[in-house]
Amino acid sequence: MPHLLSAHDLPLAPMLERIRQYREGTTPRQGRGTIALLFYEPSTRTRGAFEQACVMLGYHPLVLTPSISSIVKGESLADTVRTLCAQGVRAIVIRHPHAGAAHTASRFSTVPILNAGDGAHEHPTQALLDIYTLWSHRGYPNPHTRWLEGVKVAIVGDVKHSRVARSNAILLTQAGAEVWLCAPPTLLPDAPLPGVQQTHSIEQALQNAHVVMALRLQTERMESGFLPSLNAYRRDYQITEARLQVAHPDCVVMHPGPIQRGVEIEDAVADGSRSLILTQVQVGLTVRAVCLEYALEN
Ligand code: NCD
Repeated sequence: MPHLLSAHDLPLAPMLERIRQYREGTTPRQGRGTIALLFYEPSTRTRGAFEQACVMLGYHPLVLTPSISSIVKGESLADTVRTLCAQGVRAIVIRHPHAGAAHTASRFSTVPILNAGDGAHEHPTQALLDIYTLWSHRGYPNPHTRWLEGVKVAIVGDVKHSRVARSNAILLTQAGAEVWLCAPPTLLPDAPLPGVQQTHSIEQALQNAHVVMALRLQTERMESGFLPSLNAYRRDYQITEARLQVAHPDCVVMHPGPIQRGVEIEDAVADGSRSLILTQVQVGLTVRAVCLEYALEN
């Protein structure tokens, strides 16, 4: 029974191929039963996509959004997971403000746990939809090769608090990409991530980049003092057409959402011809369906 806690747990090439089959019209198998969506944090895209993915596969989504006061303690999470298992749910999708919550849940679960984002740790299904978006944009190269070899990806923004950056670094490097993390010095990770470069120079990160991924400033995961001001961030790190002049001429721009318009990315870039942002949202549902299917059928 596979849990899906980290991007390391995703068999990348077969998953990419399966998502493509679904997107190109293969009808998924109908399943039965209930899947619990345990969301301890706000979410639009991820929760909506998992909910629709459950329906698409023939499962009933049971959405649970516990009040803030019942979050936190390992004990209460363990009890919630045990209760859901006793009620016969087939899988549990969990989003939680604490890093490691999905791993904790998996210790008490008799059904697969899927990590929909745990604190500043990981968000594997977001990374899978991001890399799928790139795979389709690049014309479906053989996914069993290092098909992103020679491709420079700059991930720019609040890397320190970003579970999206962490999971993306795992999958992108697996496919051979040259990954650069870029943030003001206070928003870079304390320990460098394996196999990736990091810099606080936006020019160095964007130089000849084929893909620029902007990240939201995760103010809810920051203590105060990480940034002098939003204006300073905007001035030094916002992704703008002017800054993208040094990038590769065919450079594409991505953002996991939600976008804080005018902060991490200029409107003209977010809505412009280089933007893959809406494609990312569109593939989100299929990616979650394939992740649920993988967890339930293996
Ligand atoms: C991300 C998240 O919640 O981790 N959003 C998402 O799932 N699409 C990124 C973010 O919160 O900025």
